[in-house]
Amino acid sequence: MRILTGTILAAFAVVFLAAGDPATAMSGKETIDKRKAFMKEKILKPYLVAKKFAKNGEGTAADVASAARALSAAAPDITKDYPKGTGRGDFDDKVTRALPKIWEDWAGFQKAAGVLGTEAAKLASVADGGDKDAIAAQFGKTGKMGCGGCHKPFRGAKVK
Ligand code: HEC
Repeated sequence: MRILTGTILAAFAVVFLAAGDPATAMSGKETIDKRKAFMKEKILKPYLVAKKFAKNGEGTAADVASAARALSAAAPDITKDYPKGTGRGDFDDKVTRALPKIWEDWAGFQKAAGVLGTEAAKLASVADGGDKDAIAAQFGKTGKMGCGGCHKPFRGAKVK
């Protein structure tokens, strides 16, 4: 009996250890929600600060510089919450727009995050100079090469 109890306890410990810490025990849906919230809060928000200045002259060049620095710093973390099994094909198209290509070309996905980091850093230094036209031009590049450079190959169409 004592041996049996020991065996059961040992088996229990193995299962418990395999489950790991709570952070890795997040469900796929929770992970998708988390990365989407990150995108809105840490990527879209600073992007919109720069957009408002570049397109409508709202705010200041200094606002753009600090937003662009925050955007550049956050860019490498975009790829953080993409465990295998959380893309289209695994979940309903309404739940995620992440294409399987992300996992087929993981290096390309990470590289795309790096491009955003570089372009946003350039935007920050151009904004330090204060030239509105130069800021608008570099803002355009950041959107096209940074956001578009990843969304085009790696994000699928929106479905209703
Ligand atoms: C390295 C790749 C990558 C880069 C760079 C990138 N995105 Fe995304 N973005 C994605 C992917 C993939 C999704 C879809 C995530 C999902 O649906 O699971 C997404 C989704 C979004 C969403 C929708 C979030 C939601 O709630 O569904 C917004 C908004 C967004 N991105 C804005 C931006 C902006 C603005 C930029 C540039 C400043 C940018 N992204 C750069 C990969 C990227």
